[in-house]
Amino acid sequence: MIDSRQINGFSRLSKDEQRRWLTEHFLHPEQAAELTRFDAGDEGLQGVIDNFSENTVANFPMPFGVAPNFVVNGETYAVPMVIEESSVVAAAAAAAKYWMTRGGFRTEVIAAEKLGQLHFRWSGHPDRRAALLPALCTRVRAQTKAFTERMETRGGGVRNITWKHLPEVSDDCYQLLVSFGTADSMGANFINTVLEAYGHELRNWALDCPELTADERELEVIMAILSNNTPNCVVKAWVECPIENMAIPIGGVDPFDFARRFKYAVDIAREDPYRAVTHNKGIMNGVDAVVLATGNDFRAIEAATHAFAARDGKYRSLSQCRIDNDMFRFELTLPLALGTVGGLTKLHPLAKVALDILGRPGVHELMGVMAAAGLAQNFAALRSLVTTGIQKGHMKMHLQNILSSLDATAVERTKTTERFVGKTVSHHGVREYLEGLR
Ligand code: MEV
Repeated sequence: MIDSRQINGFSRLSKDEQRRWLTEHFLHPEQAAELTRFDAGDEGLQGVIDNFSENTVANFPMPFGVAPNFVVNGETYAVPMVIEESSVVAAAAAAAKYWMTRGGFRTEVIAAEKLGQLHFRWSGHPDRRAALLPALCTRVRAQTKAFTERMETRGGGVRNITWKHLPEVSDDCYQLLVSFGTADSMGANFINTVLEAYGHELRNWALDCPELTADERELEVIMAILSNNTPNCVVKAWVECPIENMAIPIGGVDPFDFARRFKYAVDIAREDPYRAVTHNKGIMNGVDAVVLATGNDFRAIEAATHAFAARDGKYRSLSQCRIDNDMFRFELTLPLALGTVGGLTKLHPLAKVALDILGRPGVHELMGVMAAAGLAQNFAALRSLVTTGIQKGHMKMHLQNILSSLDATAVERTKTTERFVGKTVSHHGVREYLEGLR
């Protein structure tokens, strides 16, 4: 007996039918009203949004904010950020403004290479790889030219091919590890297309390569896919200034004391994985917000970043702090495999606007701005943590969210905000105060 809440062919229903079915089986009618509340009200636009995914029964709005005053490599940016967590945009803006008058952010793209893997089983001996690889490379490159030509004219294409043996999996398990340049695109489709074509050619090579013995002709392609591990697609961002210029507008903390405590906090995150994960989460608050705003793939960025953070076998902070001769330097190095053309960057109207706000950057420029946003966020979080504590800033926004959830009027908001200055904010406390007012 099939559960009445299971269904075949859901994807073939119209959007209205899907909503009706969902309401009937999973929602109260008043809850279901929320599904339609955020409709674009413009058929063309709604169609664009619906086409991003499948079974779309509603739009899910997120705030699109801007953090102004980011000076990156001498250019001033207003950085678009899509994020639901309160305080993140405010913190980024505050850190950007702080560094604006202290030389701004500097960035450098260390490398911009993407990777893909083709896994296969092959009956030949691993020692034969070195002799066979050059001809194999020439063949697969030549036979897949149709897929790479356009990218080559844009400065990208296939860079290197290595042939690895993976005896940990099985004696006959091999991998072609292919590196790519993908110009200003993220390149996922390009890489996957080329790799699948390589898979096809690899089979043909095994069938008719004259240097292979009959025993060596057995080759089974298992899978072809890009790698989201991008340790060679890396950007560095940093800020630096003499510590004496680091007076901070919070509680008149001595700058030397502040710099010492700040570095100490970063050092803790270098060595303790529990702290490092939280520390890096703070960095990703800034990075992901710009990744989302610009229509990039935040899951890919997240996966790559955390692999990078653990690249020496221990999970560490992505940022480092140095104090030399009373100079403070704070830097962040992270992998960012991005695109500024193609994919969602071309389709999502607000991703387009985000890129317009940034002045239509190329990929290298966007990597720099994003890394600066991550560093700013990390700076702001640590600045709060080692001075006032994080809750002071958070509570202001938290209070506003509690007031929204309690449907506070403008007058109630003003009164409650005044009442809670310098006080601990709790949902219970705010509700009680509001009830008193009402
Ligand atoms: C909160 O979203 C991020 C922080 O926890 C980061 C940190 O602790 O460094 C404040």
